[in-house]
Amino acid sequence: MKAIILSGGKGTRLRPLTYSGAKQLVPVANKPILFYCIDNIVQAGIKDIGIIISPETGQEIKDAVGDGSPWNVNIQYILQEVPGGLAHAIKTARAFLDDSPFIMYLGDNLIGTGINEFVEEFQKNTPEALILLKEVKNPKQFGVAEISKEGKVTHLLEKPDIPPSNLALVGIYIFSTKIHTAIEKIKPSKRGELEITDAIQELISTGSNVESFVLDTWWLDTGKKDDLLTANVIVLDEWLKGNINGHIDDSSKVLGRVTIGKGSMIKKSTIRGPVVIGENTMIENSFIGPHTSIGDNVKIMKSSVEHSVVMNSSELIEIERIEESIIGRRVKITSNNTMHKALRLMLGDDSVVEV
Ligand code: TTP
Repeated sequence: MKAIILSGGKGTRLRPLTYSGAKQLVPVANKPILFYCIDNIVQAGIKDIGIIISPETGQEIKDAVGDGSPWNVNIQYILQEVPGGLAHAIKTARAFLDDSPFIMYLGDNLIGTGINEFVEEFQKNTPEALILLKEVKNPKQFGVAEISKEGKVTHLLEKPDIPPSNLALVGIYIFSTKIHTAIEKIKPSKRGELEITDAIQELISTGSNVESFVLDTWWLDTGKKDDLLTANVIVLDEWLKGNINGHIDDSSKVLGRVTIGKGSMIKKSTIRGPVVIGENTMIENSFIGPHTSIGDNVKIMKSSVEHSVVMNSSELIEIERIEESIIGRRVKITSNNTMHKALRLMLGDDSVVEV
């Protein structure tokens, strides 16, 4: 079995973070979302992975992932010239996929478990498609599956007004080669994309066996801003193991599970875990509260940060309190210590500030 990870797309919902970078590389607990996807695929025993990239962010993805040697797998990059839809991505990967069944994994999905059982289910039952589903409270906002008592998928609907179930499509699928014939038959949708839901519907209509597998742990579509903060909280809570490689001075306190990378310095500060701090970061006279991820080369002085993500090379100087915030790369936030209290801002497009 092979796998393709979809790392193209537009990433409009995560702007402004995605103006300057790929959304699949946005970090959760200091690790790019895409790396969690690769980990899961590798753990399921798959050695051939194709990563679908776009002309805009492809190089950045290549630089981050490389040739796959850290995972001991073979990684190939497949350029999708336009974000023509999920089925279009499969079409683009046709030569790589050859005659192999394959996993299609959306590169901005994070789930609370591995995919071994899901893969084993496909190998046991050999359906033409196996679709990962998750019960959600608000099915109207998702692709939704209607399933029979035996768990067979009978119908798929995109953001339905009257959902036939509360089972949403997670964005991880396994297909046999029959999907290619189905994709040849479908036409672009109203939004101009070749939709995977239409291709799967085509399989169902022509009598193919399409089965479902319901995920019983959490699932986060990190393509959305709020989910990104939630993902950070859950991953720090569930997966972070404390590991101190940086330097902590005698007047600092580090409590709970905290990871500090090489070359980082903590001076006269309190860090209350779960917290992850990257490499070569300086924290001085500050408080870092639970559920915070701080990247590499960050400087935080005389500030308090909690429940937030601060990405690489940003600076927070004399900021009384930052909470539930996502701070991108190379951002500078400083206080103006004058009597004349005013906000002086330089914010990029789509920035959101609450004061
Ligand atoms: P989406 O989140 O559905 O699309 P998008 O990236 O365009 O995002 P937004 O809605 O914020 O504008 O895509 C799911 C994943 O699949 C994501 O990792 C991007 C990837 N993708 C491709 O690789 N090729 C495509 O043609 C599309 C539509 C998505």
